[in-house]
Amino acid sequence: MMLHIPQVLGPAELERARALLADAAWVDGRITAGHQGALVKCNRQLPQDAPAARELSALVLAALARCEAFNAAVLPLRILPPLFNRYGVGEGFGDHIDNAIRRAADGTVVRTDVSCTLFLAGPDEYDGGELVVEDTFGDHRARLPAGDLLVYPAGSIHRVEPVTRGTRLASFFWVQSLVREEAARTLLHDLDRALGLLRRRGLAGEPEMVVLTGAWHNLLKRWAET
Ligand code: NI
Repeated sequence: MMLHIPQVLGPAELERARALLADAAWVDGRITAGHQGALVKCNRQLPQDAPAARELSALVLAALARCEAFNAAVLPLRILPPLFNRYGVGEGFGDHIDNAIRRAADGTVVRTDVSCTLFLAGPDEYDGGELVVEDTFGDHRARLPAGDLLVYPAGSIHRVEPVTRGTRLASFFWVQSLVREEAARTLLHDLDRALGLLRRRGLAGEPEMVVLTGAWHNLLKRWAET
């Protein structure tokens, strides 16, 4: 599923992130691209071991840890340290699919089930730069407010349109989900959303809630890989 999660970063976190990015030493973004991706990728990235990248990465991970909407939808098992990119005028990233497997700096192997883009510049700060994700319903185009997160299946063809004004800043990262299959993850998320709606209608104490909550847990147990 594609999901827009608003305000993953609060104003103070966003301000800190922007200050760190303003002083950062950027390098060619092709450092993390696969062979096909490198052919169509034109942007700048922060080296993962740069001090600013480490602080920013920890900031984003802390925000994700407290974000219920992210955890309910993605069911994360492993999150690769968030990376950071910058697209200036004329830069973009053509159609590609993210690498299936990535290795963290500590050697941990991560299967990329879910791709995430956390927007760090607002849509008023640049033109172009839409993240376009293809699915069977067509193209989805996103230029979200700063601090908002877009979550989409890592197996989707996607691109970043060329920036024609200003600078697009974002964090991007991949997650291995407890639940490998997109359709199973979507079903669990649908059930979780329905339970949330019922709770908000004051039905949390009803016996049906016990059965439905149990069904959610038993489906997760059936599908989870740990
Ligand atoms: Ni990508």
